[in-house]
Amino acid sequence: MTWHPANPIRHTIPETRWPTREEAAASILFRPIQINSLTLEQRTWVPAMVPWRATDDGFVTREVLDWYGRFAAGRPGAIVVEATGVRDIPSGPLLRIGHERFLPGLRELVETVRHASDGHTRLLIQIIDFLSVKRRPEKSKYFARFFELHERHRRALVVATGDERWLEVEETHLRAFLADAPDDLIEKVLDERELETLRKGYRERVTDTHLAHVEELPRVLPGIFADAAGRAREAGFDGVELHYAHAYTMASFLSALNTRADGYGGTRAGRVRLPLEVYRAVRERVGDAYTVGVRFLSDEVIAGGSRLEDAIYYAGEFARAGFDFLSLSKGGKFEDAAQPKVGHAVYPYTGESGYECMPTIRSDERGPFGRNVPLASAVKRALVDQDLHTPVVAAGGICTFEQAEEVLRQGAADIIGAARQTLADPDWFLKAQLGRGDEVRRCTYTNYCEGLDQAHKQVTCKLWDRTQLDAPDLSLSHDGRRRLLAPGWKIGEGKG
Ligand SMILES: Cc1cc2nc3c(=O)[nH]c(=O)nc-3n(C[C@H](O)[C@H](O)[C@H](O)COP(=O)(O)O)c2cc1C
Ligand code: SF4
Repeated sequence: MTWHPANPIRHTIPETRWPTREEAAASILFRPIQINSLTLEQRTWVPAMVPWRATDDGFVTREVLDWYGRFAAGRPGAIVVEATGVRDIPSGPLLRIGHERFLPGLRELVETVRHASDGHTRLLIQIIDFLSVKRRPEKSKYFARFFELHERHRRALVVATGDERWLEVEETHLRAFLADAPDDLIEKVLDERELETLRKGYRERVTDTHLAHVEELPRVLPGIFADAAGRAREAGFDGVELHYAHAYTMASFLSALNTRADGYGGTRAGRVRLPLEVYRAVRERVGDAYTVGVRFLSDEVIAGGSRLEDAIYYAGEFARAGFDFLSLSKGGKFEDAAQPKVGHAVYPYTGESGYECMPTIRSDERGPFGRNVPLASAVKRALVDQDLHTPVVAAGGICTFEQAEEVLRQGAADIIGAARQTLADPDWFLKAQLGRGDEVRRCTYTNYCEGLDQAHKQVTCKLWDRTQLDAPDLSLSHDGRRRLLAPGWKIGEGKG
């Protein structure tokens, strides 16, 4: 079950007037912008979206090529390829860039986008590191296999039951007893972390410095990210976006919940230290002219987490360090995620922070449309006040030309990110530019796509995935029921 505001108001998608071709030509949205040595032909941007189309060992497939080729046909200024793992470790069907063997597929991806956009779209890749998350165990399995029994558990049992014999009871008997014990007793015996592992599955944190591989993250991650960025450049990508957002390793370093005591946590300066060291290692590897940006959170939206003031501080540090763009997202954390079913892993977009990351029309009075723009705007204003002019990308419920143009006109951001609207209609920027906005297939912001992502199913859009299923050469989802790509739209079709 995914979170939504209490007593939600069901919003309708905003009515809008689309521009004429001439109005579009005179707009800021369709004006170029320079990001380091890269020129985007327009300020339209497709943020990273995982479509679950890579092979189980992280390689680019025909379906990955088709997915990005389809976005490229709409000729946005830039596309950011989905979160791609920087390490050479199994990570399921998520793209990877942790070894040279991934390069041929990634090169083909670059070629595909270049070709499909006729050279108009710039292609970046988002690179990510994440820590271990295990599935929620069966209660019996947890107590039989994963639970580490300590003396403190025995003592807690004595206190909870008033029975001294728990100090000596044979271990298998004690484990079996706990497996059958009611919740209120288990809550008296297990600590908070053990309860979380039982209820949601084991999840590592950057603060688990008793684990050698977590303790050493500051020593190893700069090199790992630098190697990955070097490969991205070698594969021909126009730039990299370091994924410092949502529920993953780098975002967890930035989080106000990061209490590491080794100089990489605690204060804001401590929390931003590794993200800056990773950036510097990347920069050294790819050179000054290569585009290196960052995606991070304008607000974590969790208890005790980082807020807008932290984001403003980080933005200043990132801009001064030399990042070429700052892309802002919001929320998407594990801390408030819903309890997964047994056998499933916790999913970071099911709590309130997840709602704020991809807001739907079941909302509060503010609604989902442009919901996160005020945060991006506050970050942008704070940068300008410090005479820092690093381009800022805003996203979150932006779905009309009017909205996008207003954001740019007000200087709230420099580039317009639209994820779900572009999934609903990969040609929407092009249609708006050509004065044919009334042909745009409008996203309804009900998150069917996100539900597929949550179930690790190939992501499609409900507005088009059951249409024209009898068309020739259609690639279909594994269950054969959905088309994997939006129907084509040619500039010459329809009126125009
Ligand atoms: C299916 C799906 C997958 C996503 N995957 C990523 C991802 O890999 N990295 C990322 O930073 N954001 C990811 N996002 C979040 C989007 O980039 C975007 O920030 C969010 O959807 C809000 O923008 P929108 O309202 O324009 O959709 C994903 C969103 C969706 C719907
Ligand atoms: S399924 Fe389509 S219409 Fe629904 S939220 Fe996703 S992109 Fe929008």
